[in-house]
Amino acid sequence: MQKKYLMTPGPTPVPAEVLLAQAAPIIHHRTPDFSAAFAEAIEGLKYVFQTEGDVLLFTSSGTGVMEASVANCFCAGDTVVVCRNGKFGDRMKQIAEVYGLNVIDLDYAWTEVVDPADVATALGENPGVRGVIVTQSETSSGVLNDVKTIGVIVAEHPDTVLIVDSITGIGAVECKTDEWGLDVVMTGSQKGLMLPPGLAACTVSEKAWRAYERSTLPKYYFDWKKYQKNIEKQTTPFTPAVSLVLGLTVALKMIKDEGLENTIARHGMLAEATRRGCEALGLKLFAPPEGRGSAVTPVWVPEGVDGKAIVKTMKDRYGITIAGGQDDYTGKIFRVGHLGYFGEFDIITTLAGLEMTLAGLGYEFMRGAGIAAAQAVFMGE
Ligand SMILES: Cc1ncc(COP(=O)(O)O)c(C=O)c1O
Repeated sequence: MQKKYLMTPGPTPVPAEVLLAQAAPIIHHRTPDFSAAFAEAIEGLKYVFQTEGDVLLFTSSGTGVMEASVANCFCAGDTVVVCRNGKFGDRMKQIAEVYGLNVIDLDYAWTEVVDPADVATALGENPGVRGVIVTQSETSSGVLNDVKTIGVIVAEHPDTVLIVDSITGIGAVECKTDEWGLDVVMTGSQKGLMLPPGLAACTVSEKAWRAYERSTLPKYYFDWKKYQKNIEKQTTPFTPAVSLVLGLTVALKMIKDEGLENTIARHGMLAEATRRGCEALGLKLFAPPEGRGSAVTPVWVPEGVDGKAIVKTMKDRYGITIAGGQDDYTGKIFRVGHLGYFGEFDIITTLAGLEMTLAGLGYEFMRGAGIAAAQAVFMGE
């Protein structure tokens, strides 16, 4: 028997309480029992999104709400600014193009942070831009983009909506939807919400509803209005993922009990311990110091070591699943997730496994240095 540790930025570990809630006998979704759970889930989502506005819940993975945000806000031929510095920004650009939008492409290296000044310039130089699309927490690179400042910029443009992919941001980093003027913020269940994959949610501001009213792009399953109308009746337009919704109520209660600020602070500490632990082993962090998120820590594979072998040895020999690099960074970086149901000893265990893996692959460093650095963070040193 080998004990398994899931240290990826999605799917993430699911607490036993949440698993048990999902194991309950299935209930019908047109019943007061389901309506009560659903209403509770929507209220809890408003809390984690920090919004008093609408939150819509879909049976899909995160990409479904990404696509829906485009289909519900725009018309073919509309111009949008897409900020991209990783795989998921790339995906938003592809979706926008598939729907016939004209994309102003703010294309950064994966190791760079989106510069809000570039968004201001793009909006200034291109009157009539209908949307700005940005990934808050880029899972492929670990970069945290400053959506707060971008929110201030976009707020000056009454006909421009700000769409934020916070699929690995929500629950891990601050994301104040209303206060920061974010019009559409998205997340997925298999991330900070500590659930299996299968649910996705987004916020919709008044400004985004105005964009919806003028939008002519085709939509049916993901038509926001269908979901909003049904929320008023405490239900969903189509058969929901009932068991996941039951689990979601429990997961959201756990976050509420911890307190969102504490949840975010815990993620900050886990990320800091992971970073300091890796640096103590002589490893180099991928994301730049001015934009490191708390959901995932990507790390450069050291010279002379096979990056794919790190991920494989961690999993096969030690039972610890971490993520490799994506696209151009396959084999060049590895990524340690700490998003959702994670505590101090998950990080200690992972660093211990990483040390054993690296030592086995011939990399030289001081044994125990990574663990000691993480311990120091946890002990407030
Ligand atoms: C930032 C970000 N955006 C979008 C997605 C896409 O979500 P999904 O794979 O659930 O469709 C992910 C998933 O990894 C993500 O991390």
